[in-house]
Amino acid sequence: MIDLPVFQHKKVLLTGHTGFKGAWLAIWLDMLGAEVVGLALDPLHEDGVFAKSQIGKRIKDYRCDIRDLGKVREIVADEQPEVVFHLAAQPLVLEGYAQPLDTFAVNTMGTANILEAIRQTPSVRAGVMVTTDKCYENKEWVFGYRESDPMGGHDPYSASKGAAELVISSYRRSFFSAPGKAAIASARSGNVIGGGDWADFRLVPDVIRAAQTNQPLEVRYPDATRPWQHVLEPLSGYLLLASKLLEEPNRYAGAWNFGPLPTQVYSVRQVVDAFLQYLGKGEWRDISDPAHHHEAGLLMLEISKAIHELGWKPVLQFQEMIQLTAAWYARYATGDVLQLCQEQIAQYRELWRSRNGN
Ligand SMILES: NC(=O)c1ccc[n+]([C@@H]2O[C@H](COP(=O)([O-])OP(=O)(O)OC[C@H]3O[C@@H](n4cnc5c(N)ncnc54)[C@H](O)[C@@H]3O)[C@@H](O)[C@H]2O)c1
Repeated sequence: MIDLPVFQHKKVLLTGHTGFKGAWLAIWLDMLGAEVVGLALDPLHEDGVFAKSQIGKRIKDYRCDIRDLGKVREIVADEQPEVVFHLAAQPLVLEGYAQPLDTFAVNTMGTANILEAIRQTPSVRAGVMVTTDKCYENKEWVFGYRESDPMGGHDPYSASKGAAELVISSYRRSFFSAPGKAAIASARSGNVIGGGDWADFRLVPDVIRAAQTNQPLEVRYPDATRPWQHVLEPLSGYLLLASKLLEEPNRYAGAWNFGPLPTQVYSVRQVVDAFLQYLGKGEWRDISDPAHHHEAGLLMLEISKAIHELGWKPVLQFQEMIQLTAAWYARYATGDVLQLCQEQIAQYRELWRSRNGN
């Protein structure tokens, strides 16, 4: 199942390919033999996966703002993709507080623009639209959110993604339900960690930056639990979902959660401690302050639907996720980063085969 031969020679449009998750997905799709067309803004980090791996040389690399419907439509019409993965977004909660209008414009209307371009391009057979676990109205429940739970969002980032989900659902029901139309799904996953993320205000990049500069790490919410996952876990879910959408569009169109198992939910404190132990140096300081902007305390995803209907299941144990991530940061400065990413994807696929079968 994880071999995914369906992508061989498929034309795949990938938005957000210059970002953290998108660059990993571009490398994986390239390994699967897909013809990848990327659409995004310039990469923000010179040590990120996109720049360091130089994957841009192996794929078609468009720079385009998804707020520009005319340009998006032109690229999609020129390229005639069969599959679309939409990952481009303003993905940060704190940036959402600083730039709420831009966040809504990119995340909500940008998603509408991609859907509109798909609607006008009959070559597209499947679309996976990536949102987030934060699209749910967070009720601080101790149990996980199901795909059928209401959308919501307190802060602008979460609300922009909840609103994107409503747009996706509306487009699916209004324009993509007839036979022969593209099958559209949305994918919700939790906080992702992995090599090559350098975003501000994210935990792992903060740990690495603190270790590189020998500063103590300042932690705002040490006891907040998050559904941490290695980046390759949700990406395997997006790929599997797209392959199923191609096979049986009616059955798989809809919303899907891709989170860790309930036993694999860890606090910020546990992630930081595990990382520092692996790195063998560094320390952290608790700077919790009730005056900080609101951030959701507890957030878990219910993943039974993906397990039972898609045959997807998380593969990595907590220590393996930390080890893979730390190994990337240990090697990126001196090694061949494309090869490093390909090795980690191959390693993940082997673990998938041995634990999830085929
Ligand atoms: N990283 C996480 O922990 C996490 C968790 C849940 C969901 N997500 C979602 O996954 C997706 C990818 O996140 P990421 O962590 O890789 O983010 P990232 O910031 O590393 O990458 C974002 C990508 O979007 C592109 N982009 C941003 N604004 C754009 C615009 N106006 N026009 C065109 N392209 C634009 C950037 O150029 C980049 O390629 C996002 O949709 C995000 O909301 C991420």
